[in-house]
Parts: sequence; structure tokens; C-alpha cells
Amino acid sequence: MCGIVGYVGEQQALDVVLGGLRRLEYRGYDSAGVAILDAGSALRVERKAGKLSNLEKEIADLSLRGTLGIGHTRWATHGPPTDRNAHPHVDCAGKVAVVHNGTIENFEVLVRGLEQRGHHRTSDTDTEVVAHLVEERYDGDLAATVRSICKDLEGSFVLVVAHQDEPDLVVAARRNLPLVIGLGEGENFVGSDVTAFIAHTREARAVDQDQVVELRRGGVVVTDLDGQAVEGETYHVDWDTAAAEKGGHEFFMLKEIEEQPAAVRETLGGRMQEDGLLHLDELSMSDEDVRDIEQVIIVACGSSYHSGLVGKYAIERWCRLPVQVEMASEFRYRDPVVGRNTLVIAVSQSGETADTLEAVRHARSQRAKVLAVTNTVGSTISRESDAALYTRGGPEVAVASTKAVMTQITAMYLVGLYLAQVRGTRDADEVRAHLADLHEIPDLVQEVLDRMGPVRKLARELRDEERVLFLGRHVGYPMALEGALKLKELAYIGAEGFPAGEIKHGPIALVEEGTPVVVLAPRHALQAKLVNNVQEVRARGARTIVIATDGDESITPYADTIIRIPDTKSLLTPLLTIVPMQVLSAEIALARGLDIDQPRNLAKSVTVE
Ligand code: M6R
Repeated sequence: MCGIVGYVGEQQALDVVLGGLRRLEYRGYDSAGVAILDAGSALRVERKAGKLSNLEKEIADLSLRGTLGIGHTRWATHGPPTDRNAHPHVDCAGKVAVVHNGTIENFEVLVRGLEQRGHHRTSDTDTEVVAHLVEERYDGDLAATVRSICKDLEGSFVLVVAHQDEPDLVVAARRNLPLVIGLGEGENFVGSDVTAFIAHTREARAVDQDQVVELRRGGVVVTDLDGQAVEGETYHVDWDTAAAEKGGHEFFMLKEIEEQPAAVRETLGGRMQEDGLLHLDELSMSDEDVRDIEQVIIVACGSSYHSGLVGKYAIERWCRLPVQVEMASEFRYRDPVVGRNTLVIAVSQSGETADTLEAVRHARSQRAKVLAVTNTVGSTISRESDAALYTRGGPEVAVASTKAVMTQITAMYLVGLYLAQVRGTRDADEVRAHLADLHEIPDLVQEVLDRMGPVRKLARELRDEERVLFLGRHVGYPMALEGALKLKELAYIGAEGFPAGEIKHGPIALVEEGTPVVVLAPRHALQAKLVNNVQEVRARGARTIVIATDGDESITPYADTIIRIPDTKSLLTPLLTIVPMQVLSAEIALARGLDIDQPRNLAKSVTVE
């Protein structure tokens, strides 16, 4: 949560910083602010509550010139989302500006000391202490000052600091939260992720735990907290600028829904050998390691958890291995039974989710092998895991996950098939056949997208509903959960997903005359049971909206509205059923006049526990 940018170079820093913040706004949009510095001039700080557009309006007529800048977009933790609490925060003299992502857990102790020593706070934030500490300790070496302060801070943070006396230096520091360096020619950048600077450079370097970055126009130095220089690997970012722009769409989410066929192609691309079987060197596991696996535990949060649930069905079916799926926030606190023959799969689009990261750390401390399934190269989870399988979905900017889920599910199928191939639980021909089915998915997803007219009409009819239920069986169950989550987070409608067989054990009490119930009913061995469940809710007055396979008429008599999807193997149906639910939720939210890219109270990357 919170997006941060730092820049020093030859361009006007305001343009660079605002451009970066626009791309990082998905991380939080409670307030935004910038600090700009030009050699020989005073540090200028502007900040405003609300979305970045508020700040842009506020500063439109100001001349904020300077070639060094830092910026912030906030997801509030300490103090309400007001102008006063917006970052950057400054010291008493207004010479130091600090932006911060994270929480400083010992800030109250630090505040008391600062107040006793005569400093005056002007915000309710934990961040401001850092500005005052820099003011106290700065003796001409800003990087050394920041290193000494970091030693006194508890909690998680990324800090970016500018000082009026250092017009060619931005100092950044990181503990637990993401920070990436962008390496340019005569200019350098730091950001919460690479989208902060891909308009300017695609050469990036990740910053490790407890490291401090000195960013100058002519170069970058990274040290540990004792000031020892540390080496790091640079990498090239394939994502292009267009991928992080709206590309003619009114909302990122609508663009990202449309990108799903291409995203799945990317996930599958280049992972098959000439003999039609999988090669996943990324797993960094010998065949013997794979054969030694005794159990799989999948850890994830939110939509990624739903992708993990689909993975469970696939891995259990194909590999005959026991699979547990655990919400990452619960995992380490229940003392799970994990050992050296456990494969833990951490599913995370951002690769930065704090709960998932802590689950990874816990699993590794128990000697489990950890595989990250993530979209973000160089993310903390990918670097702290034993191996990473990248989903290659390209940047996902909208807060609500769409193509990220689609590509995660695809990646889970790949993992399942690979384990089955190596362990010999499925023969080569069967693995090839499943892969062939998977390779048809992008075209089928496109077909579903091309049929969304009736779903948009349905959305207008459902605009004023207060409650919607989602039912599914088998792999339809995780997708019922995902459909409900999409509707909750985008349209603020009370939505719940259930296994269809479970509804009569309580939830059916929610059904009354006209309650919309979305039933995921692609052709499946459990179809007859699902037909019974639809009849049960319909008999109690539900308005049934059924997602069914082309040509399957078994459920038609019980559907008030029917949404058709093309046929595929039942295990793969989540990749098709998910699409109408994404479109339905987005269109209902739009019909209610809501911002589907930035739903209230949310941030895309949840980097606090
Ligand atoms: O980056 P991650 O995949 O770890 O994020 C996990 C969840 O916060 C995320 O899936 C969230 O639930 C979705 N954005 C909701 O659409």
C-alpha cells in the first residue's frame, strides 16, 4: 500500500514523478503529494487529500521546477486521509522531505523524544518522525543519516528522503516492503514497482532487505545499514509502456479483461518441449525432488487464494498428492505441519502481499521447498522463494484482479501437469492431451468475451440489488467465491459464494422472492446435483442466472437467465466461467456510477499484515 517515486536527472522532476504516481495510484488513493528540488532553490512540497487528480488540479498553476523529485500516493494507516496527513512530510525547517510506505511501529516512543527535544509535529502520521530525525542527525551525509535512523526504526518501511542541501541526491531505504531502482542514462529512479519508471527505462534492480540506496544523476550506490556497498543484479523489464496505459479504454479493468486471451497465451508460451511435454526449469527441482514431495500447501490471499483452490482440484486429480489451500494470513499462526518434503506454493500477483510473504518465510524456516507463482519479476516473494514460476500477465493496474487470476489458474494447471508428468501419475499422452486443451483456452476466452452483450444488459437489471448469491460445485466453487468477491469489491453489493451442496445447510435462508442467484453450471459430472440445487433455490423465489455450456439443456428449464460458454474439459472451466462474472460485476458497478479501477477502501498491493 502507498506508492512512492523518487527521481534525479535532467528532466523536470514534476512530470516524471506525476507520471510515476499515475501508474502507482492503484496502491492507494487517499492522498497524493510531491517534493521538488532545484539546485540553489528551496525545497517545494505540495500535497492534497483525495486522488492524484486533486493534487494535479491544485498545482496546475504553480511553477514547480527542479530536476530532483519525490512523490507519494497514500493508503492511510496512521491518521485520516487529510491534507495534513498527506506525504511528503517535512522537518521543522522545511528542508527535509520524506515519503514512506509501511508502518513505523515504535513511532510513539520516537515522537515523545522528538517533542522533548523541541520538535513540533504537524501531522498524525508515523512518517513525520523520520523527517525530524533527519533534521537532528544530518551532518552533511544524508545516506549515513538515513542508515543510522533505519537502525532505530521498528516495523516495515520504504523511505525516500530528499534534503534541500543535496540537490543531486535522493536516499531510499527498505525493510520488508518493495523498492525497485530504475537505471537510466544521466538519470535514475526509485519506485514501489517498475511501472513507476518504465516510461523512461526498463533496466531495473531490486533492493534487498535493510539496504539503503543513494540515487544520483550520475549513478546509484546501494549499501547495507553499516554503509558497506552491496552488489545486486540488474534485470530488463519486458513490459512496455503501452501495457501500463489504458489503451483507449475508459478503465484499466475493462482493458485487462480484454487482455485475458493474450495473457493466457503468454503464461503457456515456451513451456512445452518439442515432444509436447512440459519443461519447467523455473521450478528448480530435480526429478528426484519432485518425486519426494509428500504434500502440497498453497498459500495466498483474496483472488489469488481462489486461484490456489482451483490448483488444489487440479493437483489432487492429476498427481494424487494431498493439497491444502490456506489463507496466507492464517497459515503461520496455526503452527502448520510442514517439512522438507512439503512443496509450498505461494500465489501472488504482486509478489509483495505481506501475509503471503510471511507465510513463505515461515514455510522456509520449516525447511519446506517454496515455489512462488507470481506476475512480478524481482518481487520480494519471488526473491525469497526457492523458485518462481512467472505468470507473465503483464501489468495489472486495476485493483480488482482479472487477468492475474486467469493467468494464475493457468499456471496452477501447468504446475499440476508438470508434477504429474515427472511423478508418472499421468502418462505422457494424457499430459499432452491436457496441454492441448489448455492451448485452446485463449480462443475460447475470446469467444466468451465476444458474447458479453446480454451480460451487460443483465447488469443494468441488477443495478439496484442489495444481495447476490453465487453457487458452484467442484472447481465451480472457487469461482463462485471469486464472482462474489468481484461484486463486493466493485459494486459494494453484499455477495457471497457457496458450494452449491452446502446452501441448504444455512445460506438458503437468505433466498427470498427475486434474490439473484448466479449458478456456475458448466457441463460436469456433478451436473445432475447442481440442477437439483438450482431447483431448490428457485422454489424459494430466487431469480436464477445460470452460466452453462453451449448445447447443455439439462438446466435450461430452471434458469431465468442463461449465459452460455463454449465447451471445454470440466477441470478447465474456471477459465471460462470467470469471464461473465468479471464483466457482470464491472458493469453493475459502472451502472451504479462507481470507479471500477479504484474501489473504496482498497489498495491493490496489501503490504501490511
Ligand atoms: O498481489 P496478490 O495476488 O498477493 O494480492 C492478493 C489479494 O490482495 C488480491 O488478489 C485481491 O484480493 C484482488 N485484487 C481482488 O480483486
